[in-house]
Amino acid sequence: MKGKKVIIAISGSIAAYKIPLLVRLLVKAGAAVRVAMTNAAKDFVTPLTLSTVSGHPVISDVSDGVVWNNHVEMGLWADVLVVAPCSANTLAKMANGICDNMVQAVYLSARCPVYVAPAMDEDMWRHPSTKRNLETLLGFGNKIIPVGNGSLASGLVGEGRMAEPQEIFDVLDTHFNANKPLKGKKALVTAGPTYEKIDPVRFIGNYSTGKMGFAIAEALAEQGADVTLVTGPTQLKTSHSGVTTIHIESAQQLFEASSQHFPDCSIAVLAAAVADYRPKQTANEKIKKKDAGLTIELESTIDTLKELGKIKHGKQTLVGFALETNNEIENAGDKLKRKNADAIVLNSLKDEGAGFGTDTNKVTILNKSGMKLELPLLSKKETAGKIVEYIIQLNNER
Ligand code: CTP
Repeated sequence: MKGKKVIIAISGSIAAYKIPLLVRLLVKAGAAVRVAMTNAAKDFVTPLTLSTVSGHPVISDVSDGVVWNNHVEMGLWADVLVVAPCSANTLAKMANGICDNMVQAVYLSARCPVYVAPAMDEDMWRHPSTKRNLETLLGFGNKIIPVGNGSLASGLVGEGRMAEPQEIFDVLDTHFNANKPLKGKKALVTAGPTYEKIDPVRFIGNYSTGKMGFAIAEALAEQGADVTLVTGPTQLKTSHSGVTTIHIESAQQLFEASSQHFPDCSIAVLAAAVADYRPKQTANEKIKKKDAGLTIELESTIDTLKELGKIKHGKQTLVGFALETNNEIENAGDKLKRKNADAIVLNSLKDEGAGFGTDTNKVTILNKSGMKLELPLLSKKETAGKIVEYIIQLNNER
């Protein structure tokens, strides 16, 4: 839903009072929402409420006397138009090309898919003219969101209630995700550094910012995956609705969170820069300075990629990262075999613009069959998109 442009066109029906909830759900999921409404709709919900939740002025007149509201521009802007609630009157006008208000003008100008969520009393819903108008809209290629059954504003109980905001949201979510290659698949991504505690105020860490891992998580979600992002300490946040973030600190916590989610995942991309060692003992109190210097005994941390490689089944695609400074291809190839990964994304610190903290990256992807794909210097977002494209191909081959 992130970045999708949605117009909600509201007509005069009591169900209009539910539309601010729909707008909120869409905005929360990252969509850009514009609202058009008929004057009759204003009796049921205020433009102020809708402009507040959508973050944009509501349009209901072709002009406010000073500014002309360009319905054609609005119709072209949208990725989808939803007429909700669609009263019997609005339905009839839509079916007959009548253009006497802003909702009709936007509808007639829209080149995008149109969804209609009817709302009316049962007798109106069952009337042959309503059925005929619905057939006409279906004939135009518009899609009808089924009405519900329950209490109606008239006091009667029956068919004709507008679908609930969550149901309309789900229809739109499916609309945008239906054809995405990773729809219905789960993915795991690790990102950022780990911190291994020395004492209450010090740790062993590294310069990783998490940018590459976050970009991969978002690129996977963009392709429809339901992503669990396990991240070490970082300033980054993602608002992508397809990404659930789990914050961890140490290599041990990264392993625990990852191994809990991995069994359900089709894809796992381990981009975290995990500390290989941790202090054998963590001091409970701050270690005081001594003239004689300090030796900290270290022990190995658990290697999440290697552990997941051991339990991986045939339908899962496991991808690791390798940050190398010398013998890059050889070392990365060796990691791929040792950890039973399906592919390794190699970063060479010798390449300018690659590595920690930068907004760009230059990587080479190695797979099990010894094939290499060298990508040019790209933004981390673009690199993530290419890596995900590659992973989708690998996953499809299984
Ligand atoms: N990795 C991991 N858990 C660890 C260490 C590494 O999951 N404890 C993963 C990283 O997320 C990465 C891959 O293993 O996907 C390779 O990490 P890297 O640090 O390059 O390799 P190491 O095995 O630690 O080898 P070295 O540090 O000797 O290069």
